[in-house]
Amino acid sequence: MAGRLAGKIALVTGTAGGQGRAAALLFAAEGAKVIGCDLKVDEDRETVAMVKAKGGEMVSLTPTNLSNEDQVKALIDFAVTSFGDFDIVYNNASAARGAPADELTLENWMFSLNNELTNMFLMNKHVLEVFKRKGGGVILNTASVAGIVGAGTPGNVPVHLAHNVTKAGVIRMSQHLAIEYSPWNIRVNSVSPGVILTPATGFWVDAIGEDAFTDLLLVKRLGQPEDIAKAALFLVSDDASYITGANLVVDGGWVASGGLGRPNPELSKKFVAIIDRYRTSAAGKPGA
Ligand SMILES: NC(=O)c1ccc[n+]([C@@H]2O[C@H](COP(=O)([O-])OP(=O)(O)OC[C@H]3O[C@@H](n4cnc5c(N)ncnc54)[C@H](O)[C@@H]3O)[C@@H](O)[C@H]2O)c1
Repeated sequence: MAGRLAGKIALVTGTAGGQGRAAALLFAAEGAKVIGCDLKVDEDRETVAMVKAKGGEMVSLTPTNLSNEDQVKALIDFAVTSFGDFDIVYNNASAARGAPADELTLENWMFSLNNELTNMFLMNKHVLEVFKRKGGGVILNTASVAGIVGAGTPGNVPVHLAHNVTKAGVIRMSQHLAIEYSPWNIRVNSVSPGVILTPATGFWVDAIGEDAFTDLLLVKRLGQPEDIAKAALFLVSDDASYITGANLVVDGGWVASGGLGRPNPELSKKFVAIIDRYRTSAAGKPGA
């Protein structure tokens, strides 16, 4: 199949739904042979069927638990056996558990670390062997705006401590590995989605309302899995051959606006009136 990933082999994690499914569909449509994986067997089989129905090539190993080192190694072996040494790894899968800090159990803290950071560490560690053989490669790790700014929720409600910490860790791990793996022609970047409508967030949006999320943004809509898949496609393709150690924020302006969204029209009027007085005052302050 022709396309921006023609001739490439891409391993994508968490392909049972959301952003991983969107990436599997887009990467395959752009010519890549795709290897997927997930804990969810039926939904992941659906993704494989969707890719094939569109004429793409995809195999998947389910169930795979990416926080288990042996299973990560087995997935890499499966990928190599299926299509040969691959070119791209897109570490998309993750899962976290939240609570206020004083109620967050050690078990749920460790669950979040294991399924958001350790899983990506294990994959990043073991793909080096494949990429060394291949003479290069591309890694894209999924971080989040939650790893950069605020509490990662509308209203800055502090219930995502572990998630925020792991996602900040993913950004730093990617920068670190961009340096460490550069002698082998391996590019490592991260992508930081904002609020994206997926199985992981749909219930939040239903419960709290769409406006609570879009109020944080400059682009007044919820993100779609395809918004992230398109950014991921760019970063893993040769179009991004000069980009490594970067974190691409794809968030409708959440981070840029500090989660405060578009200018408030009422406050804007008051501020403009005060600024006008500054402009005309000799002392440079209003009323002087
Ligand atoms: N949806 C958002 O608003 C949002 C925002 C910022 C970052 N992200 C990140 O984007 C990525 C994709 O999120 P999504 O919204 O599509 O989530 P999702 O829950 O729809 O998809 C994640 C997939 O990963 C799989 N998974 C989780 N842990 C796994 C493990 N240990 N082994 C194998 N598979 C595992 C899940 O089964 C699921 O199918 C995640 O890294 C998430 O943290 C999402």
